[in-house]
Amino acid sequence: MSESIQLVPVSITVNGKLYQQEIEPRLLLVEFIRETIGLTGTHIGCDTSYCGACTIIVDGDPVKSCTLLAVQVDGSEVLTVEGLEQDGELHPLQQAFSQNHGLQCGYCTPGMLMSSLALLAENPDPDIKDIRKRLAGNVCRCTGYQNIIKSVQAAAKNLRED
Ligand code: FES
Ligand code: FES
Repeated sequence: MSESIQLVPVSITVNGKLYQQEIEPRLLLVEFIRETIGLTGTHIGCDTSYCGACTIIVDGDPVKSCTLLAVQVDGSEVLTVEGLEQDGELHPLQQAFSQNHGLQCGYCTPGMLMSSLALLAENPDPDIKDIRKRLAGNVCRCTGYQNIIKSVQAAAKNLRED
């Protein structure tokens, strides 16, 4: 006998837009973002909570969105990589990654950008150690990390000088 799954209502603001949906209680936040509301910039790179490709910001804090259920962020403000660009202008972090070759295949990039954004919000002038420490939860299989660090430092400098 098949049991029907009880849907639950959630209200989640993503990139400034309110989404009110009925979802399965077991739906992961990353699935809500990618499949329910169709923002596929947030990537899934593992099934072990290891890679960080799914990193987003929830109420100001970086989180791996594969480690949370969507119902756990009911009422929250979420920022994904799509929310970085403003009025057609790339965010200084996106510009810096582009200018400093901070990406190759780009698979890790959304997570790298969101973790870096959280770092710069806390520390506008991070040194290499600070950047390495914050990005330790984000895996890149292409770049060797040097240009990612260079990109974050360049963005930090540009933001400080703004
Ligand atoms: S998909 Fe790898 S940590 Fe979330
Ligand atoms: S740029 Fe390819 S995984 Fe980081």
